[in-house]
Amino acid sequence: MERTLSIIKPDAVAKNIIGQIYSRFEEAGFKIVASKMIHLDNYLAGGFYAVHKNRPFYGELIEFMTSGPVMVQVLEGENVVVRHREIMGTTNPKEADSGTIRADFAKSLDENAVHGSDSLENAAIEIEYFFGKDGVFPRTR
Ligand code: CMP
Repeated sequence: MERTLSIIKPDAVAKNIIGQIYSRFEEAGFKIVASKMIHLDNYLAGGFYAVHKNRPFYGELIEFMTSGPVMVQVLEGENVVVRHREIMGTTNPKEADSGTIRADFAKSLDENAVHGSDSLENAAIEIEYFFGKDGVFPRTR
């Protein structure tokens, strides 16, 4: 069974739609096997987005991701990395298919409501970054 890392970003937490987004995960058949709210600081957000350090949008990305609390969760399911990206919609909400989380809840490329790991390999790295080796609770029922 695959796992992926999901983040509900500060814009969506501020809009009070954590539950609506969790419902979409559950409707898709994903299990939430770890979850916590964190207010990222520059160090934690910078470490998470280190791969984007030289991109022009990096400064704004860190500023936004540290602007308020986020919900971080691990989702488990078959083919969950790809399927989670499908239900999130494209990175730019203006191009996202209708019915996706970003089309329905996000307003811009920066404030795009959710993050999801882009590969199985990165999912493992991102899950360990936030939850360590023992912070995920397998659900067998
Ligand atoms: P996320 O999946 O969290 O990964 C990096 C984030 O940078 C991305 O979602 C966007 O919210 C944000 N971002 C801002 N500008 C861009 C851009 N031009 N290309 C990709 N991501 C961008």
